[in-house]
Amino acid sequence: MNLTLALPFKKSNGHAQSLAQKFTAKKKQTAKYKVALCIDIGSCYTKMLLGRQRPNGLFIEQNRTVGTPEGAYADGTIINAAQLAPMLNNLTSRDSGVTKDLIFSIESTKIIKREFVIPKIPDEDILGLVTYEMMQYLPIDISEYTIQPKVIGDVSEEDAEKIKVSVNAVPKSIIQAYQRLFTSAGLKPISMDINSNSVEKMIQCDMARNPSSEYAEKNIVFIDMGHSFFNVSVYENGKYQFNRAIEIGGRMLDQKISELLKVDIKKAEHVKKELCGQISVMELDKKYGHMPDDHKPQTIYEHTLIEFMSIINQWANQVDKVLQYMIRSRERKIDRIYIYGGGSLISGISEFFEQKLAIQTVPAGAHRCCEYGPAVNAQNIMLTHGNALGALLIV
Ligand SMILES: Nc1ncnc2c1ncn2[C@@H]1O[C@H](COP(=O)(O)OP(=O)(O)OP(=O)(O)O)[C@@H](O)[C@H]1O
Ligand SMILES: [Mg+2]
Repeated sequence: MNLTLALPFKKSNGHAQSLAQKFTAKKKQTAKYKVALCIDIGSCYTKMLLGRQRPNGLFIEQNRTVGTPEGAYADGTIINAAQLAPMLNNLTSRDSGVTKDLIFSIESTKIIKREFVIPKIPDEDILGLVTYEMMQYLPIDISEYTIQPKVIGDVSEEDAEKIKVSVNAVPKSIIQAYQRLFTSAGLKPISMDINSNSVEKMIQCDMARNPSSEYAEKNIVFIDMGHSFFNVSVYENGKYQFNRAIEIGGRMLDQKISELLKVDIKKAEHVKKELCGQISVMELDKKYGHMPDDHKPQTIYEHTLIEFMSIINQWANQVDKVLQYMIRSRERKIDRIYIYGGGSLISGISEFFEQKLAIQTVPAGAHRCCEYGPAVNAQNIMLTHGNALGALLIV
């Protein structure tokens, strides 16, 4: 069985055509590719959707979340398949009677991401040229990677017409490990996507249905605020441009709370969620975010809140550095930031980022291309299941 990488691959009519599109075109003939499960494994939670692909978007029938076994997965890599397989089996058992077809979306710092400016050449030659470029410049065995080029823009340089190509090189070992894992969990993996591409499909689907889409003609950033990583992706007029992973996330808060309050990590996460639900980080920052260096906390709780705010401030500083680099290197301003992932559920976090980064920041919202069945709590679904939603879409 071949696993399809749902990454844009070839141009048609001047736009990137994805393997997923080719795949869908084939499937349309057999009318099979209609309902699918979609999974996004995270280092803290594994998210699942059951969705129906319709001509005008998605109909989501179920959404589920389970805790990922501690240490079984890290940074897009399967560490312990023996623990993940039963988890996946449990997660999908209620829905796998409907379909076993599975799409999944991943992200990993092991995926090599590069941009190349190359001469405007026929579409069918792009893969060969970027593979050659990667062989020249990267100290890797290219045969161990699946290379996915995607045309992201035109570049006018003096008398030559050039194109800008973004390239993802995914280690084949990672793809094969996922394939084995899902198959051993009784599922049928049919398509794989990368989170930044999944989000791009969501943006493009919204733009296609809505001429005055909030994404049109804008430079925007999506930040996936996960447990171990924040992933920052830039889109210009709905087109993916650039992605950078930062090794920060909710895990840092859990570890600090666990260490200071002397509770186990699960209890620490519970305390964090209670705190984040009760008080806005805007409030906490006013009280605990700017203590003088010689301040001695009166209680362990005060100490914990000071450390908590110190971590949230570190997040903002690290995101700021990445954004400043993007703004400088691309000579473009950023119009708006959309946040999603578990960290975006922290009360007041979008206002906090907006204030610190001086860029309008909002939680990623419901998209026009999705409708939800009665079993789905759609309120936070883009925040918790954003990667899976995009991966399910065919645009
Ligand atoms: N209501 C909430 N308030 C605060 N934090 C929350 C809330 N809900 C979830 N989180 C935190 O968000 C993180 C999980 O988010 P998410 O599911 O996006 O991460 P993940 O995909 O498992 O991680 P990664 O992508 O980094 O591997 C955890 O740290 C979790 O404690
Ligand atoms: Mg994640």
